Amino acid sequence: MRSKKRIGILTGGGDCPGLNPAIRAVAKTALFCHKAEVIGLFDGYEGLIKNRTKKLIWEDVSGILTQGGTILGTSNRANPFAYGEKKKDLSKQALKNFRNLRLDALVCIGGDGTLHIAHELTQMGLPIVGIPKTIDIDVEATDFTIGFDSAVAVATESIDNIHSTAESHHRVMIVEVMGRYTGWLALYAGVAGGGDVILIPELSFDIKKVCRELIRRSRIGKRFSIVVVAEWVRLADLKLVVKRKVKSSTDPIRLGGVSYRIAEQIENLTGLEARVIILGHLQRGGKPTDFDRILATQFGKKAVDLVMKGKFGYMASLQGGEITSVPIQSGIARQKKVTPDLPLIEAAKAVGTCFGD
Ligand code: F6P
Repeated sequence: MRSKKRIGILTGGGDCPGLNPAIRAVAKTALFCHKAEVIGLFDGYEGLIKNRTKKLIWEDVSGILTQGGTILGTSNRANPFAYGEKKKDLSKQALKNFRNLRLDALVCIGGDGTLHIAHELTQMGLPIVGIPKTIDIDVEATDFTIGFDSAVAVATESIDNIHSTAESHHRVMIVEVMGRYTGWLALYAGVAGGGDVILIPELSFDIKKVCRELIRRSRIGKRFSIVVVAEWVRLADLKLVVKRKVKSSTDPIRLGGVSYRIAEQIENLTGLEARVIILGHLQRGGKPTDFDRILATQFGKKAVDLVMKGKFGYMASLQGGEITSVPIQSGIARQKKVTPDLPLIEAAKAVGTCFGD
């Protein structure tokens, strides 16, 4: 390697608040502490496949700490191993571009999909370091991922705001949150926002038990209820409510809308009036929380440390309050799911939250 390193950086997959603070931390640490060159790749792996890049200087990453989104853009369609609708293998082209760019390392900031690709590219010999981000927090081997806390904050505020209108109209308000195949976001936002019922995919629920709780609340004079629903929950028929399929995406399934079916069943079984609010991409918008800014700053610095040590194939990780690193493979080995014995579930049940299980 040259003494002055060239470090590439990209953000892949669904965006979330905290990406810009992470880009800033990687770039500033590299520029300031190591006098390295930093090359931003646009739109995730698309930038690597199509060679769309920009040299980042201090001014480019200054003033972005508080901004949501990503100045580099992102994509969840650009998989070098299965590109586009025809799923073409463009990994060799990606490798060639990496060499032509004379990069010594590539920092990939992303969730499950981006880290999987990062791992595969590492197997091909690319010197890659990962930074885990996702509002779904479904990456193993790290306590938190960038973006989760900000999404919880948005969802919690929304649940707070729903309370007054729910109470005025004596309605059951069903708030559907994202989270893909896990219930982390629904659980955290549901507990923080005081949801009366929380439904997550990891705990199968009985709609009759949910309705009994709603009627019980109504009878004791609580004339409204908030039900927080994770987008991947299934009703008794086990059918997944798929909103659409995105052909060229690494994971084509887009969820959303199960709450309408839940609302219908609640109205039929209880006679109570129900309304549905799907928070959707609002949860990925806005400013990163202080927690995400701090996490992203530490992850960014850690990623550059890993690059300087030549510790490739690793990702930054938070474990028990410590910033550390783990093999990317251990982060993606399986999806991190909520378990029924999680202390947060026990605490929620202890204060009377119903999970319908
Ligand atoms: O993985 C992040 C996430 O926001 C999920 O929670 C959600 O199911 C999905 O992405 C939405 O994807 P898209 O932005 O492609 O609609």
